[in-house]
Amino acid sequence: MSQREPIAVIGTGYVGLVTAAGFAELGSEVWCVDVDTAKIASLEAGGIPIWEPGLEELVASVRDRLHFSTELAPAVENARLLFVAVGTPSTYSGDADLSAVRAVIDGLPPDRERAIVMKSTVPCGTGASIQRTLAEQGKHGYAYVSCPEFLREGSAVEDFRHPDRVVVGDDGGWAGDAVIELYRPTGAPVVRTDVPSAEMVKLASNAFLATKISFINEIANVCEETGADVTEVARGMGLDARISPSFLHAGLGYGGSCFPKDVSALKQLAGNTGYHFQLLGAVIEVNELQKRRLVGKLQKHLGDLVGKEIALLGLAFKPQTDDMREASSLVLAARLQAEGAHVRAYDPVAEAQARERMPGVQFADSALSAVRDADALVLVTEWPEFRELDWHAVREAMRGDLVVDGRNALEPPSVRAAGLTYEGVGRR
Ligand SMILES: NC(=O)c1ccc[n+]([C@@H]2O[C@H](COP(=O)([O-])OP(=O)(O)OC[C@H]3O[C@@H](n4cnc5c(N)ncnc54)[C@H](O)[C@@H]3O)[C@@H](O)[C@H]2O)c1
Repeated sequence: MSQREPIAVIGTGYVGLVTAAGFAELGSEVWCVDVDTAKIASLEAGGIPIWEPGLEELVASVRDRLHFSTELAPAVENARLLFVAVGTPSTYSGDADLSAVRAVIDGLPPDRERAIVMKSTVPCGTGASIQRTLAEQGKHGYAYVSCPEFLREGSAVEDFRHPDRVVVGDDGGWAGDAVIELYRPTGAPVVRTDVPSAEMVKLASNAFLATKISFINEIANVCEETGADVTEVARGMGLDARISPSFLHAGLGYGGSCFPKDVSALKQLAGNTGYHFQLLGAVIEVNELQKRRLVGKLQKHLGDLVGKEIALLGLAFKPQTDDMREASSLVLAARLQAEGAHVRAYDPVAEAQARERMPGVQFADSALSAVRDADALVLVTEWPEFRELDWHAVREAMRGDLVVDGRNALEPPSVRAAGLTYEGVGRR
């Protein structure tokens, strides 16, 4: 048995499975729980339910320290620290749906000396509310720690190993100490604070990054009217250490399982307290309009889209993941179909996830077969392989000549050299 503290991880999705495997690599026995019986069966059989670079190898290497179950009981029996990594999607109102978190709390046995370590992204005030529920349910032995997660899909394993920071919000007791001890080998700076502040660090961080994206997208839109080139503008801005170059890439807007719902949750959280968070309203609106502007660009070149063949390259919300939650491709495909266009698509890894969410879209098994006889190609997700495309072959395969680079990821001269028309976002 390892010398490291055994832990439980409840919810074995993108965050939970990476967290479980990461702590197992650091030496802990990890008791993983999920209500999804198919997921647990697959994990027990050695499968990995998600596509995440390095995760399959990591899970295989620590397999003997990972224990999977659909029941909470073995986890609570074997571990003091119960990491909660269940989903917290948006409700129709835009508030965070905490039903999965609540189900975990309700399922905990009474009177155990345990700690809930909240990895799920929850609105500020959730910790206090859970502590009240625990008291009402007579579960007095449970401590509560907010430990928000900052890993990024696509580099989640490396992000676990080398976090920029570890945020621990608690009342200063044994549980916070134990969480910090678990993360000590990563060498990450620790921000120890109270529970509401830790909860707010997560929401504010995502809202700030989303704001940066919407800001540069608005700059791109103004560039299109004024003759400036947003990639040059971003390069010049990003060298200012106060600004930094990250999240200054103009494009189709943000998507994914975190930014849309977390920005909306923060806006709603503020609204529920009577504060109107004006800035976030604009961030969300700019992000929505950005996808529609792209449809406008297609119309500018192709006219009416009825019957036009449009090829989407990349479907996942970003490269290096198969996650289709809130992907820009979903809105784009639906808008194009509503305009009467036929949509075909290719993604290196997300097809299975995309098929469930994109009715009427034709799926191709390569970029080149997706663009065959297409009137326009739209780069939606900047997978590296699309940068390497043979543009002469693309030109030959296509019926039309329009390339719309929704991520400013391509080299316009190479695309144009093949006789194609290039249109980016805010680029000359
Ligand atoms: N995905 C990311 O990049 C990321 C990054 C940082 C934070 N987060 C946050 O982490 C949380 C989890 O996100 P995710 O992307 O891993 O979600 P996910 O949907 O991939 O995984 C959630 C898992 O929880 C399971 N689950 C639901 N209810 C359960 C219950 N009562 N008991 C046990 N398991 C249950 C689901 O079956 C699923 O496997 C969310 O709050 C999210 O906002 C996600």
